[in-house]
Amino acid sequence: MSKTIFGFSKRSKSEKIDWIVSTYLPNNKNAKSILLQYWNTDEKLQQLHDEFIENTITNYYLPLGIAPNFLINGITYTIPMAIEESSVVAAASKAAKFWLDRGGFKTEVISTIKIGQVHFKYFGNPETLKAYFTSIKQQLLKDAKPITANMEKRGGGILDIELRDKTIDIDGYYQLHASFETLDAMGANFINSCLEQFAKTFKNEALNFDAFSSDEKHIEIIMSILSNYVPECLVRAEVNCPVEALAENSKLSGSTFAKKFVEAVKIAEIEPYRAVTHNKGIMNGIDAVVLATGNDFRAVEAGVHAYAARHGSYSSLSHAEVKDGIFKFWLEIPLALGTVGGLTGLHPLVKLALEMLGKPNAKELMQIVAVAGLAQNFAALRSLTTTGIQEGHMKMHLMNILNQFEATNSEKQHLVERFKTETVTHSAVVEALEKLRH
Ligand code: MEV
Repeated sequence: MSKTIFGFSKRSKSEKIDWIVSTYLPNNKNAKSILLQYWNTDEKLQQLHDEFIENTITNYYLPLGIAPNFLINGITYTIPMAIEESSVVAAASKAAKFWLDRGGFKTEVISTIKIGQVHFKYFGNPETLKAYFTSIKQQLLKDAKPITANMEKRGGGILDIELRDKTIDIDGYYQLHASFETLDAMGANFINSCLEQFAKTFKNEALNFDAFSSDEKHIEIIMSILSNYVPECLVRAEVNCPVEALAENSKLSGSTFAKKFVEAVKIAEIEPYRAVTHNKGIMNGIDAVVLATGNDFRAVEAGVHAYAARHGSYSSLSHAEVKDGIFKFWLEIPLALGTVGGLTGLHPLVKLALEMLGKPNAKELMQIVAVAGLAQNFAALRSLTTTGIQEGHMKMHLMNILNQFEATNSEKQHLVERFKTETVTHSAVVEALEKLRH
């Protein structure tokens, strides 16, 4: 039986389901009912989800949790987080509570510039190309006016366009490297539309530029696309307190804890194997809020990791120090986020998440997201340098093990109580469950 299909997107949803079930899941009697089980009973809401992407057959749920008690620049937030990993929301809440009693998080947006590029080939005299660019720059901006007018009314728009010579890397390769201010929009559509207009004008007007020879007039556009590398769309988040104040909830003295903590961060600064895991912990917090607020977590991931490698070797996104008796822990990350456009006005849960955060603008959301990352990193390093990560992690994972073995509510209650004082391991939980059942 053929497993390929043509014209699939034109089939109805139920035809698509029948096809996937009969072609790839013929031995699973429950396949269809599992898919249908996740449909929303509200038909309008289901249709909204169906239309987010092509070939929707059902919905994929992630838990939406909330982490309360985040004090950020004097304002208290409860942060929504969409994530499947059991310990993340608990860790965020714990870190939030810890810093609530120590002055909270301080944040600042450093810059909000986004980048897009038209990549093109030109094999003529570089000086003539420069002269052409100078002569055409105003026209590039003018032709993009229908796209930029609204953004400009609100104070954003195209900041600059530069011609960049990349012929040292690839023969004949140049760029129009443009910078943008997109305010509360993530700006991908805006930037890409501007770039495609630049490319059109740049290619067409070259035919009329007298200083070009007939060969030079033929500029080849390779592609026009925004960059998800946004090192100038930066936010900083910090916590600090006197070293002694760290002791309260730690098993170590404040100064021993601070010393170990700073060492742990230094290791992540110089050792890529550790830096990746260290930053993964930061992204646990960041992605969860990015997802809950309807933003593009793949774009954020790509940009953040590129930033972590900006000095030529992959390194920690966060830093820590003790100076004059003050412990300071901070991170600086690039975040291109939106609070208008995209899913933000469409997905009911995204709208609710943004409302929960007090309808932040993009700059405010950048700060909240950065804090979620710093809090997560703090919680992870605090566990790692004191009790070890598994204690808390396995406690949170207990419910997953119990669910895997289809424990009843009363079995769960019993075993959660029991493992409050015992070490959670997969085998210990299974053994205890079996004992209970017999
Ligand atoms: C697990 O999801 C994240 C950690 O590994 C992060 C870290 O090691 O810093 C705990």
